[in-house]
Amino acid sequence: MFRSLARSSPRLTILRNHLNFGKNPRYIMSVPTTMKAVVVEQTGGPEVLQFRTSHPVPTPQAGQLLVRNNISGVNYIDTYFRTGLYASPKPEILGREGAGTVAAVGPETTGFNVGDRVAWLATNGYAEFTAVPAVKTVKIPEGISDEDVMASFLSGLTVLAFAKETYPVQKGDWVLLHAAAGGAGFLMTQILKTMGAKVIGTAGGAEKCALVKSLGADVVIDYRSEEGKDWVKLVKDATGGRGVDIVYDSVGKDTWEGSLEAVKRKGTIVWFGNASGPVPPIPLPKLSPKCVKIARPTLFGYIETREEFEYYTNELFSLLKSGQLKTKIHKVYPLEDIAQVHKDLEGRKTMGKPLLKP
Ligand SMILES: NC(=O)c1ccc[n+]([C@@H]2O[C@H](COP(=O)([O-])OP(=O)(O)OC[C@H]3O[C@@H](n4cnc5c(N)ncnc54)[C@H](OP(=O)(O)O)[C@@H]3O)[C@@H](O)[C@H]2O)c1
Repeated sequence: MFRSLARSSPRLTILRNHLNFGKNPRYIMSVPTTMKAVVVEQTGGPEVLQFRTSHPVPTPQAGQLLVRNNISGVNYIDTYFRTGLYASPKPEILGREGAGTVAAVGPETTGFNVGDRVAWLATNGYAEFTAVPAVKTVKIPEGISDEDVMASFLSGLTVLAFAKETYPVQKGDWVLLHAAAGGAGFLMTQILKTMGAKVIGTAGGAEKCALVKSLGADVVIDYRSEEGKDWVKLVKDATGGRGVDIVYDSVGKDTWEGSLEAVKRKGTIVWFGNASGPVPPIPLPKLSPKCVKIARPTLFGYIETREEFEYYTNELFSLLKSGQLKTKIHKVYPLEDIAQVHKDLEGRKTMGKPLLKP
């Protein structure tokens, strides 16, 4: 009966009792058959983001949960999949994180119940519902809002992994952090300060620089200002001519050469993003004069196992709960405004994290 009703009107809900469905998903909550979602059919500019109102709601498979997203995160990486800088199959629903309520539990999926408030890392986040792997989903503890989690989930886990494992930051280290007012940068400035580092943050424009300063950065450089254009010299001046112990560079094409100059002898550069375009292939002999170490990490390499994922999510949640880590939401955009979010991100107009309300 439910199926035929659902066929006749896509907005009718399907209600299923969780006790009777064996290997089928367990639904208790009402779930529509269609939903709002943003689909990308082919790579291109923000105009390829197609807002749809009757996209099929996915059915959770073995090991999956169906999550009704309350809020989804927008990350710079989403633009790489949109443009094709990073390859991914199309058509595709972009968006690599969400927070909301478990609406159905897939067959052979354990550890979660319908109604649990969760955050997940996967794909298909620009949608009302997402079928996500339970293994990359965590329950959100009481006292932390979905919005706080989304403003710090993918970005915050990245920052923690890169500051603890890629290069274990030491008290007293001089750190150069580019794009320090961004979604990841805003969190990283704070994490680095809690680790006792001396932070030199770069950001574009007075407002962004004031924000970075307010987080406790020791030196802030507006690398788009006349004076800040020579940010390498300013970094050298701030460190007594020595250079920094570590550079975290997610800007890429426009900053990589300066980062190589600004790092100290025996220092480390972590290149982790392409906001201005990718870092070109670097001839290895370029690293020899100063014996520089380089890393090109990705978050997902540090949270591959459930144990690793839980380690970093627990760490993040305890920082949020204790108030040691503050979040900043640039703006919550309605799902239909997704093209504007991408324009704002790529136009360097955001401070902190843009979120989407599906
Ligand atoms: N490897 C990983 O696993 C991983 C994980 C998360 C994030 N990331 C990377 O970390 C970076 C930050 O990500 P996010 O989502 O938090 O973005 P975001 O920092 O909020 O936005 C990117 C920022 O980069 C700066 N930027 C410099 N040159 C730019 C240009 N030509 N075009 C656009 N922006 C430019 C802008 O800040 P200013 O105006 O201050 O210059 C802009 O606000 C991205 O490169 C992302 O790919 C990597």
